[in-house]
Amino acid sequence: MVILWLLIYFNILNVLKKNLFAILSFSIFLSILVSIIFSSRFLKPIKYIKDALNIYGSGNLDFHIDTKNMSNELTEIAVSIQNMAQSLKGYINELQDKQRKMELLNRLSSIGLLSAGISHELNSPLNSILLLCDLLLKDFNNNGTINIDDIKTIKEEAKKCVEIINNLKLLDPKYTSSDIRDVIDLKDVIEKIVTYLQEDSSKINFKLDLESCKLIGNRTLIQQAILNIVLNSIDAIKDYGEIKINLKRDNDMIILEIEDNGEGIDESILDKIFDPFYTTKSPEKGTGLGLSLVYKIINDHNGKIDIQSKKNVGTKFIIRFRHYENSSD
Ligand SMILES: Nc1ncnc2c1ncn2[C@@H]1O[C@H](COP(=O)(O)OP(=O)(O)OP(=O)(O)O)[C@@H](O)[C@H]1O
Ligand SMILES: [Mg+2]
Repeated sequence: MVILWLLIYFNILNVLKKNLFAILSFSIFLSILVSIIFSSRFLKPIKYIKDALNIYGSGNLDFHIDTKNMSNELTEIAVSIQNMAQSLKGYINELQDKQRKMELLNRLSSIGLLSAGISHELNSPLNSILLLCDLLLKDFNNNGTINIDDIKTIKEEAKKCVEIINNLKLLDPKYTSSDIRDVIDLKDVIEKIVTYLQEDSSKINFKLDLESCKLIGNRTLIQQAILNIVLNSIDAIKDYGEIKINLKRDNDMIILEIEDNGEGIDESILDKIFDPFYTTKSPEKGTGLGLSLVYKIINDHNGKIDIQSKKNVGTKFIIRFRHYENSSD
């Protein structure tokens, strides 16, 4: 019996030996077939899902994932990703809508604030013009004379109105100072301003430390911005005080510091001082447009302005501009 089994075993072994080549070829063919099936059933769809994720990532959240040749599991994953993209799209739309509404509200409220400021500021000079015109007419009708001082005051008040309107024009976001551009040396501008101001402000000791620093811009506007800051410093100094102006170049940047030891600014109003028509001064002294103009002008010249202030200690404005690139110095 054992012999019979051994014979069968050796017979099979013989047949197998003969067909070894056929078996090997069949195995190779089988593994290639399995990899092709695996690749088409799993790898390709996974790559396709990865590409779809990239498309979503680039912002096209409407992309449709075709799940036709995918296994059930991958179809589930693809559908979840697609749903997630759709809810993300809804969320973004909602946010954009809210942002648009907020912007509109902000615009309306700043238009409201601005109109209130404009009417308040123009109201008082225009009313005094009207009042003085009535007085003049009355005087003329009564005794045929006209008070020259009244005419001078009318002119002053009218000039104030023109000034407010001109400043408002400069604040218009559509207005840019790009049409008139020069290479400006800030050192010259500051020296001219200080010479002009020194003549009638004997209470101020100006301390200047100025390097030649050049930028491209509108000379008149830059002059106006620096003048507005220095005028505020003069107003902040009650009796006798000091205004330090430092101008230096730091690589490709210009750093301008204007510092006074005046009354300083209360922390609670620091974030308001650049708002149009915000002023702590009396109507004859200030309209509250000075620093709004400073901010707009510096911004239009790609500069930055920072402020440090302490009540009863003083205020420092730090302004940074990019230095004129082709300058050799
Ligand atoms: N150097 C400073 N020291 C103290 N307070 C300052 C200084 N600079 C600005 N301020 C405060 O900021 C406010 C706004 O300044 P801004 O120049 O815009 O308006 P104004 O000086 O009041 O009026 P205007 O400049 O239009 O004549 C001032 O009223 C003042 O309270
Ligand atoms: Mg001012």
